[in-house]
Amino acid sequence: MSDTKHVGKVTVRVLTNRAQGFYALMGPYLSRRAIAADLGGTLWDDDDKTWFVATSADRKTVYGFCAARPAARGRTAYLSAYVLPAYRRQGVYRQLWDARRERFPGPAQATCTEASLPLFLAAGWTVSGQRGVYRRVVAP
Ligand SMILES: CC(C)(COP(=O)(O)OP(=O)(O)OC[C@H]1O[C@@H](n2cnc3c(N)ncnc32)[C@H](O)[C@@H]1OP(=O)(O)O)[C@@H](O)C(=O)NCCC(=O)NCCS
Repeated sequence: MSDTKHVGKVTVRVLTNRAQGFYALMGPYLSRRAIAADLGGTLWDDDDKTWFVATSADRKTVYGFCAARPAARGRTAYLSAYVLPAYRRQGVYRQLWDARRERFPGPAQATCTEASLPLFLAAGWTVSGQRGVYRRVVAP
């Protein structure tokens, strides 16, 4: 676990893998073993994902990111949420969460970890099942 670094003002960028600069921004985090281990699977750069990337105001430091993509029955899947260990517990995911919910407010689903479950429950999501150590959650 790395030392905590102070998170300053957070900028949330919204982009897909077709955006100029996407791979320069996200490349270092795709296919990283430590991140895949934390997430329970590879961080794929699927074409239909919309990414929310939290950076410092000067856009030079990535704090974390999450994504959304279309799922079955008109739902949106919330996935790929990750905040770099040094920047955790400073509200980065909360800001990513708000930006994603604002962009995709309708029915949604996710498979979430213990660390992310409280935010889902606080937002009124309900647990619909279990996949290994992960909880399936849905929003109406
Ligand atoms: C889950 C994760 C994205 C949270 O990021 P974060 O920026 O540290 O989260 P925030 O600071 O915005 O915290 C928001 C709330 O989430 C909950 N939370 C965050 N980390 C938690 C943890 N380790 N354990 C329990 N609850 C946690 C708390 O309710 C927290 O609110 P609080 O700090 O006021 O108590 C981050 O811990 C992470 O990347 N974990 C590894 C990957 C992962 O689990 N991803 C989620 C996939 S669904």
